[in-house]
Amino acid sequence: MKFLSRLCSCLQERLKATTTSAKAAQEPNDGPDLFFDLHSLQLATNFFSELNQLGHGGFGPVYKGLMPDGQEVAIKKLSLESRQGIREFINEVKLLLKIQHRNLVTLLGCCTEGPEKMLVYEYLPNKSLDHFLFDKRKSPSLDWTTRFKIVTGVARGLLYLHEEAPERIIHRDIKASNILLDEHLNPKISDFGLARLFPGEDTHVQTFRISGTHGYMAPEYALRGYLSVKTDVFSYGVLVLEIVSGRKNHDNQLSSEKIDLLGYAWTLFQRGKLMDLVDPALAKCNGDEAAMCIQLGLLCCQASIADRPDMNSVHLMLSSDSFTLPRPGKPGIQGRGGRWTTTSTSAFTNTNASSATRASGGNSFVDEYSRNSISVSSIDEGR
Ligand SMILES: Nc1ncnc2c1ncn2[C@@H]1O[C@H](COP(=O)(O)OP(=O)(O)O)[C@@H](O)[C@H]1O
Ligand SMILES: [Mg+2]
Repeated sequence: MKFLSRLCSCLQERLKATTTSAKAAQEPNDGPDLFFDLHSLQLATNFFSELNQLGHGGFGPVYKGLMPDGQEVAIKKLSLESRQGIREFINEVKLLLKIQHRNLVTLLGCCTEGPEKMLVYEYLPNKSLDHFLFDKRKSPSLDWTTRFKIVTGVARGLLYLHEEAPERIIHRDIKASNILLDEHLNPKISDFGLARLFPGEDTHVQTFRISGTHGYMAPEYALRGYLSVKTDVFSYGVLVLEIVSGRKNHDNQLSSEKIDLLGYAWTLFQRGKLMDLVDPALAKCNGDEAAMCIQLGLLCCQASIADRPDMNSVHLMLSSDSFTLPRPGKPGIQGRGGRWTTTSTSAFTNTNASSATRASGGNSFVDEYSRNSISVSSIDEGR
């Protein structure tokens, strides 16, 4: 009994210490725009009830909440341990609040009271792309026009993160469940900048490797932890192929030729049968656009970093009618034993070798370093 009451008071002390340090780190002008108080989030989520849980990713669970003013929010509890102090966390959140674009999920603020730090986002009623794309009953509601809108919207959001945002953000975890859809099925990238909240962690690269689902990861990142904007380009390529084909990048239920989406797309490309990849659930489809998307997907997934276009080039390819896409070489295909094939034949962008940086934790050095070494392509000048 005595032990229990000691444990209780100890826990209370810890809670008080966290709250006090969070308060101390607040500045007078931080105001209510940045901080949500724990109690209001508890009320909004029915005390983080399981019924309110939207999902559980690599960083912790996400809950749907209803605020007193009627606003719906999504609250991400960061259960993962971070050595980052409260002050640094708040500074990162302040920075992330400035990263705004129509193709990014809006961050509304954070909560630093209690044992876990939390991020509060706008709630998107259609949840994520995977809910539609990989569900046979729902995938027909994603017609071709909508899919192409998603392909271009995600490219636009990534271009913003890589080149236009106040600070360069390499996402590291582009995948179907991180593409949220608004009420008109417009895409919004979620979970950008999360790496910045876990700097210098030994577990960091691991976390992203786990949450970053193997099938989406560029070979140089999966094998050596090398990080650059082209890491996202690779994942984007896989995503585009998933959107066109309506299937996951790896599907054990399929015949051995089809199991790996990237390998299958490459086989079809070589046979001149690209259109066989298109989702049979699509009643109508713009053939030229679909073929372009598949070729673009293959280009983005080239094994060699230098052979992948940057998002600027991707955006241009998608928005121009007259652009002839370069012929892709063999992509970086992950074999069944987890081994990568890294041969490549085509050269597309002119990137120097330093455009890859070691993933050491999303700090500004890594991000700055890769900003300086962004690939130069012949169409960069068009911006
Ligand atoms: N802002 C949001 N609005 C609606 N649903 C969301 C939002 N954020 C996340 N979700 C849902 O919660 C699920 C879990 O999210 P997350 O923890 O980021 O894991 P993951 O992205 O790995 O699936 C997502 O798959 C998505 O469907
Ligand atoms: Mg997510």
